[in-house]
Amino acid sequence: MAPKGLGSAVYLAQMFLSQVLGSGGTGIDATAGNGYDTLFLASLVGPRGKVYAFDIQPIALQNTRLLLEQHGYAERVQLLQAGHEEMEKFVSSPVDAVIFNLGYLPGGDHGVTSSAGTTVKAVRTALNLLRPGGRVSIVVYTGHPGGKDEYLRLEEMTSALDGRHFHVLKIDFLNRSQRAPSVIVIEKAGFTP
Ligand SMILES: C[S@@+](CC[C@H](N)C(=O)[O-])C[C@H]1O[C@@H](n2cnc3c(N)ncnc32)[C@H](O)[C@@H]1O
Repeated sequence: MAPKGLGSAVYLAQMFLSQVLGSGGTGIDATAGNGYDTLFLASLVGPRGKVYAFDIQPIALQNTRLLLEQHGYAERVQLLQAGHEEMEKFVSSPVDAVIFNLGYLPGGDHGVTSSAGTTVKAVRTALNLLRPGGRVSIVVYTGHPGGKDEYLRLEEMTSALDGRHFHVLKIDFLNRSQRAPSVIVIEKAGFTP
C-alpha cells in the first residue's frame, strides 16, 4: 500500500482515481509491477467491478497475482502479459480510471523500464477509453536512463491536449530533489455531477 500523505506520488495518483472509480466500475493498471496499484483499483471496484492489469514482465504479473490472491481479489482482475501500448486490443470503453506508475520494477531488473514512445501511445489510448469524467493518473520518474525523455514527451503531449475536452494537472514536489517523481492527472471533460 502507498504511504498516505502528500509526500507520496503514488498516494496522490491513487487519490485522484478514488474519486471517480467506485463499486461496479472498471479500472486499468497500465503497469502492474508488484501489484499495489492493481490491488488498490480492485479494492475500489468491488466484486461486481473489473480491473485490467498490464505488464510486460512475467515476474510482475506473478507478484501481482499473489498479492491479489492474498486479499481475495483475483477474480475481479484480468492480468495481461502485454505492453500497455496494446491496451485497445484487450479493453473496450468506457473505463473510469487508469493508472500508470512508470519506470522500472522495484526489486526487479532496473534495465527493463517503460519508454517514451510506447508510454505516449498508451496514454492516448487510455484517454480514448475513458468515460466522460474519468481520469488517468501518471507517476513519472526522471532519475533513470530514459526517464527524463519520457517525462518531457509526456509533458509535451498532455500540455497539447484540447482544454475543451481534457483537464490536465501536473503536481511537482517543489522542495525536493529534481529527481523526485511528478504526477500528471488528466480528466476527460463532459461530466455533469
Ligand atoms: C514502477 S513499476 C510499477 C509499480 C506497480 N504499479 C506497483 O504498484 O507495484 C513499472 C512497471 O512497468 C512495467 N512496464 C514497462 N514497460 C511496460 C509496457 N510497455 N507495458 C506494460 N508495463 C510495462 C515494468 O515491467 C514494471 O513492472
